[in-house]
Amino acid sequence: MDSILVKGNGPLNGAIPIAGAKNACLALMPATLLSEEPLTLTNAPRLSDIRTMTSLLQSLGAEVSSLQDGKVITMSSHGVLNPTADYDIVRKMRASNLVLGPLLARLGHAVVSLPGGCAIGARPMDIHIDALAALGAEIDLRDGYLHAKTQGGLTGAVHEMRFASVGATENFVMAATLAKGTSVLSNAAREPEIVDLVHCLRRMGAEIEGEGTPTITIQGVTALRGATHPVVTDRIELGTYMLAPAICGGEVECLGGRIDLLAAFCEKLDAAGISVTETERGLKVARRNGRVRAVDVVTEPFPGFPTDLQAQMMALLCTAEGTSVLEERIFENRFMHAPELMRMGARIEVHGGHATVTGVERLRGAPVMATDLRASVSLILAGLAAEGETVVSRVYHLDRGYERVEEKLSACGAKIERIKGGA
Ligand code: EPU
Repeated sequence: MDSILVKGNGPLNGAIPIAGAKNACLALMPATLLSEEPLTLTNAPRLSDIRTMTSLLQSLGAEVSSLQDGKVITMSSHGVLNPTADYDIVRKMRASNLVLGPLLARLGHAVVSLPGGCAIGARPMDIHIDALAALGAEIDLRDGYLHAKTQGGLTGAVHEMRFASVGATENFVMAATLAKGTSVLSNAAREPEIVDLVHCLRRMGAEIEGEGTPTITIQGVTALRGATHPVVTDRIELGTYMLAPAICGGEVECLGGRIDLLAAFCEKLDAAGISVTETERGLKVARRNGRVRAVDVVTEPFPGFPTDLQAQMMALLCTAEGTSVLEERIFENRFMHAPELMRMGARIEVHGGHATVTGVERLRGAPVMATDLRASVSLILAGLAAEGETVVSRVYHLDRGYERVEEKLSACGAKIERIKGGA
């Protein structure tokens, strides 16, 4: 297993290109199952999660090829499809559940393994099941698999979700594109990745309105066509790299960055004393003067502060002046990075969904362990600002969601390298 060695060495200066969004791409790829014609995605990120989704789609009978080292992915689902998403792939990545809606819509039946829990929480599937059941699917759980079928296809329906789940919104919208009649989803999630999925489905001929609002209306059509679609910028990768100069000092321009993708996060950076300015190429981030100020953060569905930036924000607040409270409202167990940051000298107390962080002047390098994707990058950020060396082990988590992290940070002057093999 690889690890990452980081040496804290002062301010970062330069430019970092931001990739296409992992979480948009993971929803866009299953959309290929809705059409017999090819779907091409450009600006795709080069990540292990994308390779896992590629394997899943291939196991379902889709043809997947890539160009430009994976930046362009072309998928075609014209042949006979296999309706079963196997546990061996689904357990590796929860987003595999996004094939359920498309398979049901295209084939009228699907068998998809339940993903099981993960490091950040139990993450059940009840909201997905209720949403697809509203469209007429009959879903039973047998042998760890969801067995879903319809009587003569899906039928449009009005449905309100009990919580604005990102994945359940994506499954419902994809399924409803080929259902008979009109579907209305209320309390829908509003994340930019859902807006991007709808833009792509529209290019494929779907009739959808209301993306980015809590009510999405879908008029079912009989078939979808092929399309080419550029994946939206990864707002979580963007926020992560915006935090690098915030923690280390210096000035970094994040190429392709947009404030509208991260308005709540940018407000917190401003309150902490970090300047964010729009440029022609993206967003320029700089720490104004002296230490960062403490700020309180509550994670919420979009447009609130994203849970996927909570760990990285905590790394920043570890060296802020004063005490910050971070409240995690999306996942029940997403503070696994706190004890690792404490190994580096951070002062953090966790009580249930709240973490209280009392800033210290300086963190100290230490061997630490990544527990999940966002935790892993928060430890790298902390290491960049710490005195001495930090070795982050279990970086396979990092490779799921960040491409070429060492290269991007080194280009701005960071001392960071990958150590092959080891613990
Ligand atoms: N939930 C249920 N039942 C369901 C579905 C969700 O109780 O049927 C709960 C979850 O357990 C969780 C909350 O609702 O506590 C939010 O889950 P949601 O369905 O919105 O999340 P998701 O679709 O599973 C996506 C991202 C996550 C991101 C969340 C929240 C993808 C592939 N994943 O997950 O990304 O944290 O939305 O914004 O889009 C990451 O990239 O590191 C990551 C975890």
